[in-house]
Amino acid sequence: MPTYILGIESSCDDTSAAVIRDNVILSNIIANQQVHSLYGGVVPELASRAHQQNIIPVIHEAIKRAGISKNDLHAVAFTRGPGLLGSLLVGTSFAKAFAYAMEIPLIEIDHMQAHILAHFIQNENNSKPVPRFPFLCLTVSGGHTQIVQVNDYFTMQVIGRTIDDAAGEAFDKAAKIMGLPYPGGPLVDKYAKDGNPLAFKFARPVIPGLDYSFSGLKTSFLYFVRDRLKENVDFIEQNRDDLCASIQYAIVGTLMEKLMLAVKQTGINQVAIAGGVSANSALRKAMTDLQDTGRVETFIPEFSYSTDNAAMIAIAGYYRFLSGEFGNLSMSPYSRSAD
Ligand code: KG4
Ligand code: ZN
Repeated sequence: MPTYILGIESSCDDTSAAVIRDNVILSNIIANQQVHSLYGGVVPELASRAHQQNIIPVIHEAIKRAGISKNDLHAVAFTRGPGLLGSLLVGTSFAKAFAYAMEIPLIEIDHMQAHILAHFIQNENNSKPVPRFPFLCLTVSGGHTQIVQVNDYFTMQVIGRTIDDAAGEAFDKAAKIMGLPYPGGPLVDKYAKDGNPLAFKFARPVIPGLDYSFSGLKTSFLYFVRDRLKENVDFIEQNRDDLCASIQYAIVGTLMEKLMLAVKQTGINQVAIAGGVSANSALRKAMTDLQDTGRVETFIPEFSYSTDNAAMIAIAGYYRFLSGEFGNLSMSPYSRSAD
């Protein structure tokens, strides 16, 4: 008999619900919150309110599109953290109430682990190869940048991390410096397509081991743009595509360099990317080029499972369901990871 799980994601500014049948995704509904683009970043108070408005219609739609009834669900999985507390509380409270009312198990999921487990999602009539354990995953989002050694579905070891800004933050801050709206990452990616990645050179961080640092790169970009603006007030408009391509080149180059060092140090030659920044076309291209060398097997998530979504919460919920690890009604969300 198949297992149906409802996944709920509300850690930041996307309200999402998904239904999975075993490891096959049946629906994945995402309500984006446009309100934040006016403020240059996510406003936590507004995010919580928007989640409150969106959550019931989004869940209703996910169950409807899956072609099942809520009575068919075996469990509800939700993001417990990390993320914005007010946002997480909306998903957590809904999940608890739903599990209690439907008398089904409640499953807590870590958002960063779920980004990685998105690689195991299968689509109906179209199964794809999945990584085998152990593999390495570069997990890059707006709040995190980590190299994770994935030994099993829930046995993961962070072997490298950023000591300051996350890669997504570096994209967003560079975009902000250029006057682009939030979130700037996708726009930098878009404009970079028409730019020259070697047009401008920015100071790359030199950090020992597998850790990252992006704050120096951001400062180097800021000072460079500020100095050029003194000479030419139209510098950004005239050079936007080259600026985007050059900063993207620096960020992606830094990400790949440490990832390759991790392959060398661990001897693990299956490598995946996950998280919002894994939607970046230059990073995806770097991974495809790596695969073409024949030395490393690479895994790139489907575009819709790169940025925040509930399908990844549902697949993680499925594997927790199989291991029989359930939560309880007194669980509260956490804003930061323990590591
Ligand atoms: O995983 P995610 O959706 O949310 C968090 O958990 O943080 O990641 C969001 C981050 C943002 O910083 C956004 O600018 C970045 O991912 N991002 C991108 C692209 N798409 C999303 N960065 C560069 N290129 C993209 N195409
Ligand atoms: Zn995320």
